[in-house]
Parts: sequence; structure tokens; C-alpha cells
Amino acid sequence: MMFHPQGPTLWELAVQALSSTERGYDLLAPKFDYTPFRTPDEVLDVVGTALESLAPFASGLDICCGTGAAMRMLRPLCRERVVGLDVSAGMLSVAQRVLADAPGTAPLEFVRGDALAMPFDAAFDVAVCFGAFGHILVQDEEAFVRQVARVLRPGGRFVFVTSPMPSWWDPTYWMRRGFNAVMHMRNWLRSPPFIMFYLTFLLPGAGALLEANGFDVEVRDAKFAWPFTPLRLVIATRRPAALGLPAATGW
Ligand SMILES: C[S@@+](CC[C@H](N)C(=O)[O-])C[C@H]1O[C@@H](n2cnc3c(N)ncnc32)[C@H](O)[C@@H]1O
Repeated sequence: MMFHPQGPTLWELAVQALSSTERGYDLLAPKFDYTPFRTPDEVLDVVGTALESLAPFASGLDICCGTGAAMRMLRPLCRERVVGLDVSAGMLSVAQRVLADAPGTAPLEFVRGDALAMPFDAAFDVAVCFGAFGHILVQDEEAFVRQVARVLRPGGRFVFVTSPMPSWWDPTYWMRRGFNAVMHMRNWLRSPPFIMFYLTFLLPGAGALLEANGFDVEVRDAKFAWPFTPLRLVIATRRPAALGLPAATGW
């Protein structure tokens, strides 16, 4: 037991980290909600409250939905449908089970897919992504942002939380750097890789990338409670094509 009596053991986490990203999450799925990797409700509640003033949305997408924590937050804000996309069938199956009692009436859909090749075009008014930017390699971030622009309708919102880079004297900075070094070594020694790195898609870089790829970006200090105080809420609005979205062909 590591985090919670019903959570994964250190051994189970090690086995998962030695699998591919997809297989690792398939293995972790039954215990995922008892780990700190699930986005906490304290964070999602603040985001949900902030989104109320922009709601209702017709349709919402939770990218890398995992066990559906953010789908639960999105459902009461959406009228027509809420889709969860994830690469792990195991995580989607847990999401489907635990969301059976989720408040709201919008139909829920679960789609197995890759965040870098999403099977939608201009289909959503809001897209969210929580706890998953570490699974997108830095060199894939622009392709990811272009995918998000493609799946949103003009005026649609991409909503997430991230933070600035911690200072070099902050112990979490060195813990995360250390974790990244171990993961680089693991992926160098063993294939397929487990893609998970900290300190990615941070501010201000993530905002600049979104601005360069068809979004107007608002960064809010939404006053997340400790220990989430460094987090900022980002609401990126997809510009209409005429206002600077790159052409859809060739994405
Ligand atoms: C740490 S979990 C976060 C789950 C959920 N969003 C939350 O906040 O609780 C990350 C999720 O991203 C999924 N994932 C990782 N890489 C992915 C990819 N390339 N495309 C789609 N899903 C991916 C994993 O299967 C996992 O369910």
C-alpha cells in the first residue's frame, strides 16, 4: 500500500511503469481513483464553478479522461453530450462504471483513442484536459494543440490547469527533474516507452503555443487551495479561421 489502503502497492506501480503507457494504465485502472494521479475534486470544483458563467455548452470533450473525474464536472454544464477520450480501455471501462450516477442528463460517450489523433472535427464547444500533459512529449505539444483546435468549434473553449516552472530552490523542482531523468533512462533501456514527464506544458510557454495555433488565451489565478496554489486556470478560446487558425489540411 502506498497512497491509500485500496491503492496500488509500490511493486504494482513499478510493474505498471515498466509497461507501455496504455498497458500501464490498463493495469492501474481498478485502483487509479485511490492514487494522487486522479485530479482531485478540490481542483475540479474550482474549474466547474468558473465554467458556470460560460455554460451551458452543447457538447464537451474530456481529453485523456482516465476514470472520468472531469466528465463528472462537465456533465451538468453540457446539454447534448459529453465524450471521454482515452488510450486505455481499462480506464474507460472504470469511467463508464463510476459515472453511472454522475449528475446531469447529457449522454456520456467513451472513445478509445490517441490525444494526438482524435477522431473528431469541429465537434465540441468545450474541451478539457487534466493530469495528462505529462503524457505528451514536448516535441508533440504543437501537434496536440492543433488537434484540440481541430476538434473544437470556432469560439469553443479549451480549459485546463497548469503552473509556471517552479523555482530552482523549490524541492519539487528537483524531485520532478529526478523523476524525469529516471523515466528517460527507463525508456532508453526498455521498449515500448512509458511516456510520463513532469514540468511540461507550463506557463507562459503553453499559452504562447496556443496563441500561435489559433487560440485567444486567458490565464486566471482562480485561487486554488493549498497544495494547489501554484495552479492557474487557462481558458483558451478557438478563434474563427479568418482570425488566424491555420488551415485544417495537413494537420
Ligand atoms: C494521470 S491520468 C489522468 C486521468 C484524468 N484526466 C484525471 O485527471 O483524473 C492520464 C490519462 O491519460 C491517458 N493517456 C495517456 N496518454 C494518452 C494519449 N496519447 N491519448 C489518450 N489518452 C492518453 C492515460 O491512459 C490516463 O488515463
